Amino acid sequence: MSIKNRMSPSILSSDFWKLGEQITEVEKAGEEWLHIDVMDGMFVPSISFGMPVIETIRKHTNLFFDVHLMVQEPERYFEDFARVGADLIDFHLEATEDVKGCIEKIRALGKKVGIAIKPDTPVSEVMPYVKDVDLVLVMTVEPGFGGQKLIPKCVDKVRELRIVTDRIGLRDIDIEVDGGVTTMNVTELTDAGANVIVAGSAVFKGDICGNLKIFNSKLQ
Ligand code: DX5
Ligand code: ZN
Repeated sequence: MSIKNRMSPSILSSDFWKLGEQITEVEKAGEEWLHIDVMDGMFVPSISFGMPVIETIRKHTNLFFDVHLMVQEPERYFEDFARVGADLIDFHLEATEDVKGCIEKIRALGKKVGIAIKPDTPVSEVMPYVKDVDLVLVMTVEPGFGGQKLIPKCVDKVRELRIVTDRIGLRDIDIEVDGGVTTMNVTELTDAGANVIVAGSAVFKGDICGNLKIFNSKLQ
């Protein structure tokens, strides 16, 4: 089986007044995933949205919900996010003292598991867990805000992660990148080995369908 290149548009940059309409546009563009950023004001300085928003949109779409928890001690909330409709739960390695326990908890809830690392966390720290997760999310900006510029050294981490996971036979693992991704730098990221591409402002600012069309033409 080979992994698929795909977009995971981040609604953090959507116009919340038009959230429903904009998610429909994402679906019409042929996307299958939606990236949902939850911020707690502790792990990251900002606060975004949480369970009620996810529960509401879940009723109106079958998109695969890729829920990125930028939350301290995320294990407190896995059950809640599973209940409101997350399909994949990405928690931060840096946010918990019990990474293994987090993976087990999410699995027990029947959800896919993603483990996220911040720009300063080396790939070696995530390696003990890669066999047990579906996806590794390599942050390409400091988590906390949309609209930042991609940090170039993070592209090298993606390359390293793809090489070392390939080497141990994990050819199907999804590597997701998140932060500062544009239609101009996405090819550099897929060349490095990323196959799930999060983009917020580069999708939601302007023509959503048009932006996704350009992204997808580069993911072939
Ligand atoms: C940042 C979030 C991202 C954010 C990306 O902490 O995790 O998902 O929405 O936004 P852009 O694509 O604008 O950098
Ligand atoms: Zn995110």
